[in-house]
Amino acid sequence: MASPAKILRGTAANLSRLARLLREGEIVAVPTETVYGLAGDATSAAACRKIFAAKGRPSSDPLIVHIASIRELSRVAHPNAAALRLARAFWPGPLTMILPKTEVIPGAATANLPSVAVRMPSHPLFRRLIRLSGVPLAAPSANPFGYVSPTTAAHVLKSLGRKIRHILDGGPSRIGVESTIVDLRDPGHPVLLRPGAITRSQLSRALGTPVAAIRSRKSSRRAQVAPGQMARHYSPRTPVMLHARLSRSAVAGADPRDAWLFVSRPKGAALPNVFWLDAKGDLRRVSRRLFAALRELDEGGYRAIHVERPKGAGLAEAISDRLTRAASR
Ligand code: TXA
Ligand code: MG
Repeated sequence: MASPAKILRGTAANLSRLARLLREGEIVAVPTETVYGLAGDATSAAACRKIFAAKGRPSSDPLIVHIASIRELSRVAHPNAAALRLARAFWPGPLTMILPKTEVIPGAATANLPSVAVRMPSHPLFRRLIRLSGVPLAAPSANPFGYVSPTTAAHVLKSLGRKIRHILDGGPSRIGVESTIVDLRDPGHPVLLRPGAITRSQLSRALGTPVAAIRSRKSSRRAQVAPGQMARHYSPRTPVMLHARLSRSAVAGADPRDAWLFVSRPKGAALPNVFWLDAKGDLRRVSRRLFAALRELDEGGYRAIHVERPKGAGLAEAISDRLTRAASR
């Protein structure tokens, strides 16, 4: 595409124009509370194919379908009692559920799987756009396949700007890491496929059943359940090295061609190649900042980016998961 995408503010006129384009089968980058998405009509195989083409994503990696109300869930999926319970507890919000799909969702959206990933986002502009378009919207993260997910409209413009025409600007994503994905096809045995801001213990509490982590399953099973859960994902071009703990003194004598990214601000004098995700290491702010920081350091011309892994469960698990993927080559 010759000219770069236009960034549009969320005015009523822009929203109705984008909704019309979506109904006509076009694709549009949209803000969500997790990361920016690349949206198209989930009921249209042609629109879904445009999404895969723009991202350079293999068609074997299924999309997430976004709806604007719990009522719409049964239009795209066959919910069970566990799914309805989680929907009431956590929607709108950063939770995606895997359920058997209905016939309105084409195989092009789900990589021909009989299941579909569904989420009701909380970002007000995106929800308004779903309502106005009148169709469920398939939207993967709006990054070229394998690269770091975007958390601002500028990120989308930078890496996908010549493949798409329109980006709806809804400000920086509030959460900053992709939604939690839980497989609910067997409601008695929920499985966490991707950690996110809604934690495994929150899900277990709401369901009254333990939620298994995908790692506890056999790898053959894993490939079948989540074809898109491949390791190399979210990777900057610069090699990323993960560390359980970074110490400021070790960094002081280290090679200036490397960047060092701490979770919280290290003690001592400032160094030009030492960075941190949040002064106090507040995990919400850390997750909000993570992908922008990786993108910025990727442009810094460093030989390697050394990152400290946050400790603990909950949101730390999601951040740690994304860092592990960023570091795997
Ligand atoms: O926060 C999010 O979830 C963002 C925003 C835009 O909503 N979307 C997102 O989409 O992260 P994407 O495509 O980057 O990641 C979707 C993941 C993929 O790893 C895919 O394999 C998995 O969801 N997935 C989709 N449908 C599935 C299915 N039927 N069974 C198992 N995994 C599925
Ligand atoms: Mg993605």
